[in-house]
Amino acid sequence: MDCQPARRLLICAESAGARRAERPVADDRSRGSSLGAPRTIQGVGSGEFEPMGAELPGSVPVIDIAGLRSGAIEERRAVAREIDRACRTIGFFYIRNHGVDEALIQELVAASRAFFALPLADKMAIASTNSPHFRGYVPLAAEEHNPGHGRDWHEALDFGREPRPGMEPDAGFYGPNQWPPAMPSLRPVVERYYGAMLGLSMDLLRGFALALELEEEYFLPKFDWAAGWLRLLHYPPQPENGSTDGIGIGEHTDYDAFTILWQDMNGGLEVHRLDGTWIQAPPIPGTFVINIANLMQRWTNDLYRSTPHRAINRSKADRTSIPFFVNANPETVVECLPNCGPALYPPITALEWVRARVLESQPFRQEAAE
Ligand SMILES: [Fe+2]
Repeated sequence: MDCQPARRLLICAESAGARRAERPVADDRSRGSSLGAPRTIQGVGSGEFEPMGAELPGSVPVIDIAGLRSGAIEERRAVAREIDRACRTIGFFYIRNHGVDEALIQELVAASRAFFALPLADKMAIASTNSPHFRGYVPLAAEEHNPGHGRDWHEALDFGREPRPGMEPDAGFYGPNQWPPAMPSLRPVVERYYGAMLGLSMDLLRGFALALELEEEYFLPKFDWAAGWLRLLHYPPQPENGSTDGIGIGEHTDYDAFTILWQDMNGGLEVHRLDGTWIQAPPIPGTFVINIANLMQRWTNDLYRSTPHRAINRSKADRTSIPFFVNANPETVVECLPNCGPALYPPITALEWVRARVLESQPFRQEAAE
């Protein structure tokens, strides 16, 4: 596999000023790695983004992944080639024919909306600050994904993996979820959706491995008790003043391996292309949006792009989105794949990387401790 074409693209874009601030691990900082937490907000409230169009280089493609579940290797490879193309360029793609039951999705969406409509006291009864495992309710304007640009205008409810039987909870990813006493109906639907996401994750991990010319099962042992993070999100309508403070979620890259996002028809997801322009990734019925996140970019040595993105709810209605962050087993060492060297990043465990970045985005934890 040749890693060079994508890296040349990235270097060209950076030299044109398309990519900016860096803040990954200290070892990366001096090298000017592309991974980090971008800080510059552009176009907020001003419409400085381009509509998505099929003819636009670097737009977000739609990929039918039914072939990933085919018994014919050529059909699986054909899907993998499309995934590979998307990951080398825009770092985002839609998937259709993903196999997740639409009724289950809608059941969770309805449950999510019902939870966020509860009185604040009922939501705060399971505040995330109660949990050393990042589980529970995160209030409106508590997070800050783009430091210096204001708190994010969303509230969230987070769930993760319970420890494997006999496994000690580690310092961050495994542990008990918090379930709202005021809404006992939430747990069963969350658990069924979580299971569906794990299944879809395995299909996609096989696809990524084929795309990278690895053994098809290459990633599976690294995700066999993966600490995936399911997040229910409510974005109230954006304030009318167009302020750069308090957009739905500030420009950021995701921390995990890749993300499976369901979004409602109000839209709001925007993607920062290599050429520096923003495009929308509007909702398409029957699809999820997949985006490459930090760990996959590190594995592939920048071949696959963990593309900065943000969400701005311009719809004047309440927006629901449900990302599932596909994370590796916490002890998994993420280092450059053998066919993608020489390595740009030092090895790091999934736990070290993701935990550090989550803490950066959650200043309310420090505030609660003070
Ligand atoms: Fe994100």
